[in-house]
Amino acid sequence: MKSRCACAEPGDFLAVEGFLGYIAWIFLRCKDASSSSQPSSRKTDVSHFQSFLRNPFGFVWRAIYKMTIGRWKYASRNGYDAERFWGDRFRKYGLNLVGPGHDGFSSEENERSYRDAAKVFMEVCRDEGIDLSKSTVLEIGCGTGFYAELFRSAGVTTYQGIDITDVLFSDLRQRFPGFRFLKADIGSGWVPIEGEFSLVTMIDVAQHIVSRERLDAALDAVDRFLTPQGRFIFTTELERTLAVNAFYETQWILNDFLERLRGWSFGPPRPFRDKYLVCATKKGDAHDALTMRLSAHTPKERE
Ligand SMILES: C[S@@+](CC[C@H](N)C(=O)[O-])C[C@H]1O[C@@H](n2cnc3c(N)ncnc32)[C@H](O)[C@@H]1O
Repeated sequence: MKSRCACAEPGDFLAVEGFLGYIAWIFLRCKDASSSSQPSSRKTDVSHFQSFLRNPFGFVWRAIYKMTIGRWKYASRNGYDAERFWGDRFRKYGLNLVGPGHDGFSSEENERSYRDAAKVFMEVCRDEGIDLSKSTVLEIGCGTGFYAELFRSAGVTTYQGIDITDVLFSDLRQRFPGFRFLKADIGSGWVPIEGEFSLVTMIDVAQHIVSRERLDAALDAVDRFLTPQGRFIFTTELERTLAVNAFYETQWILNDFLERLRGWSFGPPRPFRDKYLVCATKKGDAHDALTMRLSAHTPKERE
């Protein structure tokens, strides 16, 4: 088993197989949670340790599944078959927040965690001066529509959700008439939508893009879809701490985003569920935007 290494690439962790590795990971995580200097609100999420104490058999079964059977079942060139994995997960849990949340925790615990997350999300929008009622929103990895609901309540009228699976889209389209949903893999870099958005969100999604090449493609797409001075709100870790990941997860850190989105300005990371929420502002100004738009069309098209 590899030891913990702050300088390893996330992909390296995927090579670490085995149930024992996973158990070690859980205990390292618990240790981190109890001894970490990170802000205390990170500890409000139910811990894996509590989940273990509550149902040791279920915990061990999930660990075996994530390190062996699941890894084999969803194996693919891209690390894992995300479309099939998330499709199966949403078929199993439907609109319940356990689907996009923690499958070791109850619906109530997941709902509580999401309620806290919504508060932090709205605080970030307020502190960053984002007027949601005037924002045009692209949500990457829209899942069960939890954030679509927040956006609607805040007065968003132009909303485009994308997700790698469309299993929940018929429910979402019924619940959010006027909002648009499209099946697309952000890690492929090819997302067939038109136009630009003033706000792009990617909440609890990046860790499920398990290769650097695909993360870079996703961030390039974010860059393409944002207006100059547009905002990008995403979740990340601040430092690499894990020796082992489940097959559908990896650990990206803020630096991975900073390196790809050069010249952008990044707001302070806020504790958010078991990670951090960050708001970044794309470089450029309104004049650049106009120039880019004008140069993209022939004079005849501009008329
Ligand atoms: C942990 S869930 C989070 C869902 C939602 N953002 C939330 O916070 O409730 C991850 C979501 O990202 C989607 N997803 C995973 N990989 C993706 C990809 N490459 N492109 C688009 N969506 C992806 C999954 O289908 C799932 O809806």
